Amino acid sequence: MLQFPSSPKIGRTLLAAASCVAAFATPLTTHAQAAEGHEAEIQSLIDQMTLDEKLKMIRATSSFTSGGVGRLGIRELVMSDGPHGVRHEHGRDMQADAHAEDRSTYLPVGICLASTWNPELGHDFGNVLGSEARYRRKDVILGPGVNIIRTPLNGRNFEYLSEDPYLSGEMAVGYIQGVQQNDVAACVKHYLANNQETNRGTVDVQMSDRALHEIYLPAFKKAVQEGHAYSLMGAYNRFRGQFATHNEFLINDLLKGELGFDGVVISDWGAAHDPYQSLAYGLDIEMGSELKDGMAYEDFYIVRDAKELIDAGRISEDMIDDKVERILRLMYRIHKLGDQRRLVGEFNSAAHQQTARKVAAEGIVLLKNEGGLLPLDLSGVQSIAVIGANADHKHAEAGGSSQVPALYEITPLQGIREAFDDQVQIDYFPGYAIAKGKKPSRKLRREAVKAARDHDLVIFVGGFVHGYDNSWGGNAFDAEAGDKPDMHLPFGQDELIHEVSAANPHTVLVLYGGGAADMTGWVDQIPALVQAWYPGMEGGHALADILSGQVNPSGKLPVTFPKVLEDSGAHALGEYPGGDSVQYKDDIFVGYRYADTYDVAPQFPFGHGLSYTTFNYAPELHVSTADDAVTVETQITNTGDVAGAEVVQLYVSQENPSIRRPAKELKGFQKVFLQPGESQTVTFTLHQDAFSAYHEDEGWVMEPDTYRLQVGSSSRDLRASAEQELEAF
Ligand code: BGC
Repeated sequence: MLQFPSSPKIGRTLLAAASCVAAFATPLTTHAQAAEGHEAEIQSLIDQMTLDEKLKMIRATSSFTSGGVGRLGIRELVMSDGPHGVRHEHGRDMQADAHAEDRSTYLPVGICLASTWNPELGHDFGNVLGSEARYRRKDVILGPGVNIIRTPLNGRNFEYLSEDPYLSGEMAVGYIQGVQQNDVAACVKHYLANNQETNRGTVDVQMSDRALHEIYLPAFKKAVQEGHAYSLMGAYNRFRGQFATHNEFLINDLLKGELGFDGVVISDWGAAHDPYQSLAYGLDIEMGSELKDGMAYEDFYIVRDAKELIDAGRISEDMIDDKVERILRLMYRIHKLGDQRRLVGEFNSAAHQQTARKVAAEGIVLLKNEGGLLPLDLSGVQSIAVIGANADHKHAEAGGSSQVPALYEITPLQGIREAFDDQVQIDYFPGYAIAKGKKPSRKLRREAVKAARDHDLVIFVGGFVHGYDNSWGGNAFDAEAGDKPDMHLPFGQDELIHEVSAANPHTVLVLYGGGAADMTGWVDQIPALVQAWYPGMEGGHALADILSGQVNPSGKLPVTFPKVLEDSGAHALGEYPGGDSVQYKDDIFVGYRYADTYDVAPQFPFGHGLSYTTFNYAPELHVSTADDAVTVETQITNTGDVAGAEVVQLYVSQENPSIRRPAKELKGFQKVFLQPGESQTVTFTLHQDAFSAYHEDEGWVMEPDTYRLQVGSSSRDLRASAEQELEAF
């Protein structure tokens, strides 16, 4: 056994969060340094500004702009949602803007991107957003959303990435860099603990320091320190008693202090609540959509009492200068100020549409494939019944602020028809209606079940919808400002799926939605199950590619799919939705950390996703150690007949921790593309942070102990493991 040199102390290394940063942060990229060298100009601009001009720069001037100072050549900062497409509104004339001919690329949603487990695609995705934002003269794109997926009910899970902080962080970094290479700032949201939409504007989140540092903070930390995000959005909720958008601990101490964030903190829209706190607790720009007496935006908290607070000596003008300095720094970074070498971007190009299709095809997850029903073999098949209203439903322009005015959206039905029409007869039966509060139609159901019986094969396309658009008249399911009522599929689909699959055993079920559904009523009856999320404008094509085998599926779940709601940590151990406050008693036991530690079998585990080929992992893991790193090597071979990609996942557990730790934690992953028969060695390098836990009293600690390293195809399909004794390093 190789050992690291013992720590001079009691063989235990104590790492304060700050020193951890120093040890592991990557250096600032050249691009992020673009503003450096402009300090003198920034200072000179600030020196020339009146207080009124400074105050105008730190508040909105329309729904999506904050102020500039024309006489000094500083134009307004223009922002736009959202995480998966550029929205059209500018905010001055919403009606006119809504009808503008600027329909953009509608990318798959965040959780679909995370399902690719491919950080390079994160980068391509961000690049599309950044490029289209630039083309439309926007400066800040309001994404990515990196909040941890704590409960399957959260209405905005579809916008977020994962239940796992490591995966979320890795995917966010590429996204941010992709956006920012286009001279557009990413705005990472919603900082912090906006993990439910119920009571989001008031709820006070209480969590331990450990949960904060191990689960809820790391993706933001990586976004700041490795992604070098130029801006970040405060959340609506409270955190330990204070609104997150102006929170002394979260922003001043942690973000701008410990993490060294030198960018701009933008409020969520209408999330500021107090004049003094807006100024003093880290907020840099207050945004919101209220129009007051025809005179917009003059009554923001951040400016309302500013002069009085300065006169009273409670706020110094330096504090305001610091905000303005950050905004100007951002402007230099995106070349809005300084040299005029600003990129112009591209809009709805074929390349952007291709990225949308690629992300969808890599993000769609094959959950189940009994008897190899997929890819579809149409020999002997005369007819296919496509069943389910979701097959013919579009999602782009719903869901709240992330809605996108898509240039087009290929529905599943369209994709399926294009792919198979020339080979078989395809008939469509909605089976249910997407409508709020109505009883499921017996007629539609009868027709669908009969069709299932009369056709050789069924492709049932069901699941959730956003349910938040002008025609809906309220929110439900995957949408902003409200959570799902429960985990069941809406519109009577449970019964319908049950009956359809009983009528035809050759039923492929495709689910749309932002996360897990309760499948217990029918999952055993369904031979082939595909999770399609909301796969964007090219979704129908990507889905058909998967069904036909044109593309070999390689998506993996970035969240645990519990069998029932009570099997998720937040509901089993924690509190949800709480009342005035919500206690995260589930602590660090979120997602698979709960399921695996408490031995609760999920419906489909974190990291799960099937392929049309097979992968063999070498039985031995090679582990070697050096001064400050552990290297883990595994060999993987494509043992099937078709090319495919596998996400090799590395999990770490500690054998005898002094505090309770999860059964295992993801600390590395790599997506490997292999031809049939091809092998590849996959190497992971782990540092101290991969073995450390956050101790309430001491901060990050790596204990000398035996650590188990496991690699595999999902969190519950581990193929090789090794134990390694490690001293702290
Ligand atoms: C959302 C943000 C969004 C903002 C602007 C808010 O309601 O929470 O995510 O960026 O609106 O549309």
